[in-house]
Amino acid sequence: MSNSQTVVVDKSGHKVRQMFAEIAPKYDLMNHVLSMNVDRWWRWRTVARLAPQSDWQVLDVCTGTGDLALALLKKMKASAKQPRNQSTSIAGSETEQLGKRILSSDEARQQSWSGVQVVASDFCRPMLEIGQKKAERQNVSRLQFVEADSLQLPFPSEQFDLVTVAFGLRNVSDTLGGLQEMARVTRTGGRVGVLEFTMPRVWPLSSLYRFYFLRVLPRIGQWFAKNRSEAYSYLPESVGQFPQYEQLSALMNEAGLNDVKFYPMTLGLATLYVGTKA
Ligand SMILES: C[S@@+](CC[C@H](N)C(=O)[O-])C[C@H]1O[C@@H](n2cnc3c(N)ncnc32)[C@H](O)[C@@H]1O
Repeated sequence: MSNSQTVVVDKSGHKVRQMFAEIAPKYDLMNHVLSMNVDRWWRWRTVARLAPQSDWQVLDVCTGTGDLALALLKKMKASAKQPRNQSTSIAGSETEQLGKRILSSDEARQQSWSGVQVVASDFCRPMLEIGQKKAERQNVSRLQFVEADSLQLPFPSEQFDLVTVAFGLRNVSDTLGGLQEMARVTRTGGRVGVLEFTMPRVWPLSSLYRFYFLRVLPRIGQWFAKNRSEAYSYLPESVGQFPQYEQLSALMNEAGLNDVKFYPMTLGLATLYVGTKA
C-alpha cells in the first residue's frame, strides 16, 4: 500500500498510549461498527484454531479492552476438566485478590501466577479499565489484567503455553522486539498467535478494500470518535506499513518461532499467524 505520499507512522510509546487512551471509551463500539461485527468472528476463529486447553496458562498482550483474552478464557473453561492450577495450594488471600484489580508491572513481577489461567496485558490503562469492568460484568475468574509494555513483559521466561496478540503488534514500535518478548515468555513447544489486519491480495476486492480502508474508514472513525489524534487515519497507515503474510512469518522465525503458518480470514482482511517456540 505504500506510495510516494506515505507518511511514516509515529509509533512512539507515549503517542500510541495517548491515542488509545483517547479512543478507549468508544473503542469496542467502533471496532464492531467499522468491521461490521466481523472482528468478533475473527477472534472466534482465532480461538477455535488455537484451541487453548483448560490446563494451559495463556498470555494476551496488547489486550486493549480484553476481548481476545475473554474469548480465550471462555474456550478454556468450556474445555475444562480440571484446570492445572485449581488443585495447587495457593495462599487464600492471593487467590481471592486475583483479577480484582489491574496489576502494575512491578506487582506482576512479584506474582506467582498460580491460579491464573489468562493474563491480559497492555500499556494503556484506560483500555484495561474497560476490560476489567467487562470481566467483572461477566463475572469471570482466573483472568488477570496487567499494565505492561509488550517490549518489556514483566513475566518469567517460558511461563506461558500460548501467547497471543490481536491487532496490537502493528502498534508496537519494534515489531521484532515485540515478537521476541512474546517468544521469550512462551514455553518451549508452546505457541504464539498473531492476529492482524492484512490487505487482501485478490482483485477486485483488493482495490475496493483499499478504497474503503484508506478513504472511507478514517472519515467514519473520526466522525464517530471525534478524536483529535486521528487514530483512524493511523489505522490504514499503520496497516499499510506493517509486514504481511510471508514477511511477518519471516520475522516470527527470526524471533525464535518455528513452523510458522498463516491463515487468511475473510478473503485476507485479517490473518492469523501461528508459530511454535523452538
Ligand atoms: C488496536 S488495539 C487492540 C486491542 C485488542 N487486542 C483487540 O483485539 O481489540 C491495540 C492495543 O495495543 C496496545 N499497545 C500498543 N503498543 C503497546 C506496547 N508497546 N505495549 C503494550 N500495549 C501496547 C494499545 O494500548 C492498544 O490497547
